[in-house]
Amino acid sequence: MIGPRVVIHIDRLIKNYDQIKNKLGRSNLMVVVKANAYGHGSARCASALEKHGCKSFAVFSIEEGIELRDAGISSDILIFSKLDISYLELAVKNNFILNISNLKDFDILKSFSSKNKNSPRFHVKFDTGMTRLGLNINEADRAFKILSHNDELKCEGLYSHFATADEGELSFAHEQAGKFKEILKKAYSFGLEFKTVHFSNSGAVLNLDQNDFDIVRVGMLIYGAFPSNEVPKDIEILPVMEFVAPIVEVRRVEKGTQISYGGVYKTEKESNIGVIQCGFADGIPRSWYKNGYVGYKGKHYKIAGRICMDQFMVNFEDDLPNQGDEVLIFGSNDFNSISMETIAEEIESTPYVIATGINGRTKLSYQN
Ligand SMILES: Cc1ncc(COP(=O)(O)O)c(C=O)c1O
Repeated sequence: MIGPRVVIHIDRLIKNYDQIKNKLGRSNLMVVVKANAYGHGSARCASALEKHGCKSFAVFSIEEGIELRDAGISSDILIFSKLDISYLELAVKNNFILNISNLKDFDILKSFSSKNKNSPRFHVKFDTGMTRLGLNINEADRAFKILSHNDELKCEGLYSHFATADEGELSFAHEQAGKFKEILKKAYSFGLEFKTVHFSNSGAVLNLDQNDFDIVRVGMLIYGAFPSNEVPKDIEILPVMEFVAPIVEVRRVEKGTQISYGGVYKTEKESNIGVIQCGFADGIPRSWYKNGYVGYKGKHYKIAGRICMDQFMVNFEDDLPNQGDEVLIFGSNDFNSISMETIAEEIESTPYVIATGINGRTKLSYQN
């Protein structure tokens, strides 16, 4: 079937990786490839990055980790999700790094390791202000006592997660960083050592000083979009995802013709209306129709009326597009550029939602 396509520009992914590394100086990157690499295809993206020298990835679920191992990824893989007993054996088998985020998780680890004479690798997560997963700060003494008395437990890292690193107002982020540094100090006072200490996400890479921690967990930025409009955009990144869809019909209509469901859009003059084979079920955000547009041969053309499940219409006015040509929904190609950030701002969403919303019949293809 002809229909929507996402072209993933691997060359841009690699360029973004290099740009971020250059900006950071000494810190390494743990590339976050959860949710199918934010819609970009986790196995393909991780393979390309691993070949380029990346040695560390993060996913959310254990299944996402297994998908990477099945694709031949041999680098470190951190699993972000809440620990489940069923993960332990899989973690050992697949050499995953688990997320320990509750004191009870240590009991699970201890009983597994005494039974199996083996412990999975893990990082300990503290909650410093996200109020999601993570040990409470006042549990640090107990956690570090357990770690310092149980050498068989393979704790390799300590981390936390910023809640507001991509905002313009950064006092809360600084507070979180301060708390994390206190936790780290405490860990060292127990004689503990970690292979990796990490905190920063894309927002922190742009907004905060990176020199305190040795790995940065980066997602959105590596895919070529800024996490918000409040960060300094002082790094050159390229959109990795190019979302296009074909024009399958063109008809000339009179002034005042009503288009799509609800008839909320009417032509202001005689116009060429194109039907695009892509709908909200494929990943184009439905609410973008109000002020939205697509790119075609270097120009922008208005989306005409509500986006349907499988199709939407575009007003090409007096230009006559070729049936079978593709329009650009977002990303950039030789003719046009429309950023996910622009769409996100207009529809009060985020590039994270837009990228991971690619769905349905949209085919992913890769360009090196
Ligand atoms: C724990 C954790 N670290 C890092 C990231 C990467 O964030 P970003 O895509 O903003 O770089 C995420 C993404 O949501 C996350 O959940």
